[in-house]
Amino acid sequence: MTPTRQVCLACGRETSELDPATRCRSCGGLLDVLHPPPSVTGPALRDLFDRRASPSSASPPSSGVWRFRELVLPGAAESVVSYPEGNTPLLARESLAVWTGVLSLTLKHEGQNPTGSFKDRGMTVGLTQARRVGARAVVCASTGNTSASLAAYGAQAGLPVFVLIPEGKVALGKLAQTLAYGARVLAVRGDFDACLGLVEESADPLGLYLLNSVNPFRIEGQKTIIFELLQQRNWQAPDWIVLPGGNLGNTAAFGKALEEALALGLCDRLPRLAVVQAEGAAPFAQSFAEDFRHRYEVRAETVATAIRIGNPASWERAVRAIRATHGLVLSVPDEEILAAKRSIDRAGIGCEPASAAGVAGLRRLVGSGTVSPHQSVVVILTGHLLKDPEIVLEDARTGTAGIREIDPTLPALRAAIEA
Ligand code: F0G
Repeated sequence: MTPTRQVCLACGRETSELDPATRCRSCGGLLDVLHPPPSVTGPALRDLFDRRASPSSASPPSSGVWRFRELVLPGAAESVVSYPEGNTPLLARESLAVWTGVLSLTLKHEGQNPTGSFKDRGMTVGLTQARRVGARAVVCASTGNTSASLAAYGAQAGLPVFVLIPEGKVALGKLAQTLAYGARVLAVRGDFDACLGLVEESADPLGLYLLNSVNPFRIEGQKTIIFELLQQRNWQAPDWIVLPGGNLGNTAAFGKALEEALALGLCDRLPRLAVVQAEGAAPFAQSFAEDFRHRYEVRAETVATAIRIGNPASWERAVRAIRATHGLVLSVPDEEILAAKRSIDRAGIGCEPASAAGVAGLRRLVGSGTVSPHQSVVVILTGHLLKDPEIVLEDARTGTAGIREIDPTLPALRAAIEA
């Protein structure tokens, strides 16, 4: 049987799964990881994954990534670096169904991963692969979540971690995590796109293993958001899956996962993907509007710092995902992202601003009649509320639900409560 291999999306060149280059050595194109087909498909494969997820199974469902190992990294075996991660909930809340206008709405909260974002699903595979290729140190550029996740998994793998972040543009919670887990933080005088350009140029000459989502093994891990979501829905695909788009790694992973799930008989139809960008950071939405005839690069600006990205790396993979799923891409202004965040927070769920872009986008899609109120929709919440505490405090200072200072007396408390 053909072992797992890497294939260049641009020129088709194949390389072994243990080649540490994160782009094609011939043409610089993005790579795809292809595995040997699992020994069973359809209902038998679903049963295998269901048995592993069941609490009564001999080995507990410790990781929502490695449960699907045949489709993620079949050769990893004893080298796995796992927190564990995944097993995130699918949540339904009446108030959000009303706010978006979709009756059958669920939210998959990837912010409930160990470091508070979906990145952990990619990093468990990325650090496992780092071990397999004998990496001496790892590196990434990040708007904050990738760096927090890399720092945690790198610490577990016992590898030195270097992260490049855009100076002054990373949310507080993410920066604190990255430092706490012991990463070496380099604040670059430039934006995320400059950081990514720099790590792509320098990882190889400096002997560092690159763990941004250009690394195709990251994508393999993030596919499990889709596999787990289908499993939680009893292998019934929803009509739509909505997610925020920044560097487009998740979009790429979702498209690949859905194509594989359909081919292997894990589901019997493809949901449509809707990717939502912030208006000030929307090169992919702009290109989609022109049927992807041009690739754009913008100088990005948005309150949702996680997706403040002007030149997304996984572009070609994401175009394929949108085409394969008959998907669409839209953008929403910052005010709508913040309004959606408020609704998600007030529903008792909470998320960071970038995550709220998906919910804001869905409300628009219902408003324009693209999504009907009776269709089933899953929105992915990508990061935890506490990732960006400053934006909550800022909102409280200017909004109605602010903090009120009182004297430590009963009359003062009574006055405040009755006000
Ligand atoms: N949501 C959150 C919370 C993110 O942190 C990111 C990306 C995205 C959405 C966009 O996902 O890049 O796969 O399209 N954060 C990266 C980082 C860039 O460095 O943490 P994408």
